Parts: sequence; C-alpha cells; structure tokens
Amino acid sequence: MRAVSTPQVLLLENIHSSSHPNFARHGVKVHTSPKGMAEELLIETLQGLPGDGPRLLGIRSKTHVTARVFAAVPNLVAVGAFCIGTDQIDLAAAARHGVAVFNSPFGNTRSVAELVLGEIIMLSRQVFMRSTACHAGHWRKSAKGSHEVRGKTLGIVGYGHIGSQLSVLAEALGMQVRYYDIISKLPLGNARPCESLTELLGLSDFVSLHVPDTELTRQMIGADELAAMRSGAYLVNASRGLVVDIDALKATLDSGHIAGAALDVYPVEPKQAGKPFENVLRGYEQVIMTPHIGGSTEEAQANIGREVSTALTRFIADGVTLGSVSLPEVDAPPNVGCRIINIHRNVPGVLSAINRVVAESEVNVVGQRLATAGEVGLLLVDLALDRGHNHGRALSQAIGALPTSLRTRLLEES
Ligand code: NAI
Repeated sequence: MRAVSTPQVLLLENIHSSSHPNFARHGVKVHTSPKGMAEELLIETLQGLPGDGPRLLGIRSKTHVTARVFAAVPNLVAVGAFCIGTDQIDLAAAARHGVAVFNSPFGNTRSVAELVLGEIIMLSRQVFMRSTACHAGHWRKSAKGSHEVRGKTLGIVGYGHIGSQLSVLAEALGMQVRYYDIISKLPLGNARPCESLTELLGLSDFVSLHVPDTELTRQMIGADELAAMRSGAYLVNASRGLVVDIDALKATLDSGHIAGAALDVYPVEPKQAGKPFENVLRGYEQVIMTPHIGGSTEEAQANIGREVSTALTRFIADGVTLGSVSLPEVDAPPNVGCRIINIHRNVPGVLSAINRVVAESEVNVVGQRLATAGEVGLLLVDLALDRGHNHGRALSQAIGALPTSLRTRLLEES
C-alpha cells in the first residue's frame, strides 16, 4: 500500500489562528506567512511545499490567485478566501481546473450590525460633535437636538445578512424597523417591509444602507432620495461607497435638510492603512467617518478563520463543496469508507462512462452524489471497500484517466 500523502495548507496575510485546530484535526500541515504574495513567489512557494499531497491555499484580499497559479500548481485542490470578497481570485480558471474556492459571506455580519447600531445612538445624541468640543475645551452641555432612539423608526435598505441582524438589534432597543429589499424577505420580529424605497425614506428617522455594489445600487441615494428623507433624519452607509452620491449628500447636509450621517465606506478609499484620506465631507462635525472598519473586529477574523477552514477541511476529507463559489455544491455525510471525488467537464455521457469503469472493476457502489453548474460537474462515489484497499486507488486512477475528468482524488488519501 502507498504511503498517505499529507495535505499541506499555505496560509498568507496573517489569517487568524482560529483556523489551525481544524487543519490539525484533519492532519493538514500548516505553513504561514504574514504577507501577501505576488504570482511568481506564490507559485514557487506552493510548488516547494513538502511531499506530493494535495495543496490548500488561504489568502485574504491582497494575494491574487491567477489562472497561471492554477495551471502551474496541479495539486492545488482548494483556495480559501478568508474574507468576504473573491474578486482577487480568477474563479473561472479555478472552475476550469476543478479547484474549490470558499469564502466567508457572513463571518463579519454581526460586527457591521453592531457598529451601525452604535453609530445610530451616537448620531442621535450628537456624541461625536460634543466629544470633539470637549477635547477643544468647550462644555456643550444641552439637551437640544439630542434624542433617545427608543420609538424612532429605522429604515433598512437591503434586508440581507447585515440588514436583518441590525433589524433584530434595533428592535431590542425599542426602535420601529421598516425595510426595503428588491426581493421578498421574511420579516424578523416586528419589522415590516416597505413597498418602495421612497416610502421607506419618507417614514424613517434613520436610514441605513446594506445593499451590495451593483448597477442598480450605484448612486441609489442621490439628490432626489436625500430630498425624500424626513427633515432632521440621519443617513448611515456601511455598505459600499458608490451607493451614495457623496456630492449630493454634501449639498443636503449644507442645506440642513438632514441632521447628519455616519459613513464607513467612500467612493474612493486609500489602498492601505496609513495612506492619506480625502473626502468632501472631511471637517463636517455632524458626519461620523470611520475607515471601512465595519467588519474589522477580532471576533470577525476568528469567525472567518473557523468558517473557511471548516469548508476547506470538509472538502479535503469528505468532498463536500457547500458554499463553494467555483464548483457545484454537493453535501454528503462524513466519509468513513472509500470515496472518490471526480470533478469533470459538464458534457453528455460522463456519468455513463464513469459507471462503465466502475462496473468493469466489479466494485459495489453504495452511494453517488452528482451536481453540475455551468461547465463543471462534481461526482462523489462511495464504494463498498475498506479504507486503504488497492481497488479504490486503481478505480480512482481509471476514472481520472477519462478524457472528461478535470480532477479525481481518492478521499481516503488525505
Ligand atoms: P447580503 O447579500 O446578505 O444582503 C444584501 C441585500 O440587499 C439582499 O437582501 C439583496 O436582495 C438586497 N438588495 C440588492 N439590491 C438591492 C436594491 N437595489 N434595493 C434594495 N435591496 C437590494 O449582503 P450583506 O452581507 O448583508 O452585506 C451588505 C453590504 O455590506 C455589502 O455591500 C457588503 O459589501 C457590505 N459590507 C461592508 C462591510 C464593512 O466593513 N463596512 C463588511 C461587510 C459587508
């Protein structure tokens, strides 16, 4: 019997150590580097990892995983984006090479919702402008313009992960929650949907934006929408900078129509920490500005570490691709026997060709799971064989040799 090849994971960009126990539990050897890597160095480092076992790669936003990386490292089986976005990974190339890519779509959801809730209270009590005055030696003690948030209406635009979390937290403070979403969403607690954005804007004391950056949402809050807001209301944007027309917001604040805003995201943001920040609203005391830190907490990083490492290790051990953004999603119970994963081109006849190979081997199949998406298909085959049986390896090699196969692996090897 051949020696088992230990899987190796390369974790870049200071990925949280909460990911390590998962890798240890699954016998994956961890290699770390605090910085991102350029293409050439990334290829060399992945190729240089010990042994010939499967490679996993963990990155955040700085490392770009290009088509060349996938082509140059044939035993790279999965990439974990330990963040929300996956723009830095060539997902089409990943699919073509049968590589599973996972991310963390809600690891920092709660962090954003908490920051927004805090800012709503800070705006309502004019905390930042009074704090700044104290620092400057002025005692601005007065109740004028300060309000409790209890009983006020919060309008949430985009009732997804963050919007719906915020809804629950705001209700706990006694706020009335209304929301607007382009798709029908289950209202949590006593929250109620609005028919239109205009309706929401007209009845909210606070408007908080939680939509993605799409053609529909870019500049969705412009001069008309700001004019449709209640006089004295507040706007919060911790979604994406281009959702708000910043010049229109400046003009509306200058007119005094709305009382203030809290911004965490901007149309143009510095590329890295420490770089200068420019924005037309700098110096506006009624605007809270934070440097895109909505999701930046230790807890969020730890959540992301656990979530993405779980996805990677389930893929390595069981062939499960739930949550993959590159491959078809297949769920399966833990692999306790002999399981083959075959990722193939999604063309007619694949299943019958694979089954012909299996039938000729006279090994009994105890379960099969297939899913396809676009040009790629993923098949898990459970065989009535004990772990380590040579037939399993021979069968995996025969299936892998089919012209439609992109990548085939006997999962007991990991
Ligand atoms: P999500 O995808 O769970 O929810 C977005 C919601 O917006 C969905 O329910 C969708 O149907 C809705 N939507 C889309 N287009 C719409 C439109 N034109 N009008 C109304 N509703 C619309 O996303 P999630 O996780 O809640 O994130 C929301 C935003 O927060 C994203 O832009 C994301 O980039 C941003 N974000 C910001 C962070 C920060 O650090 N400030 C951290 C994490 C996310």
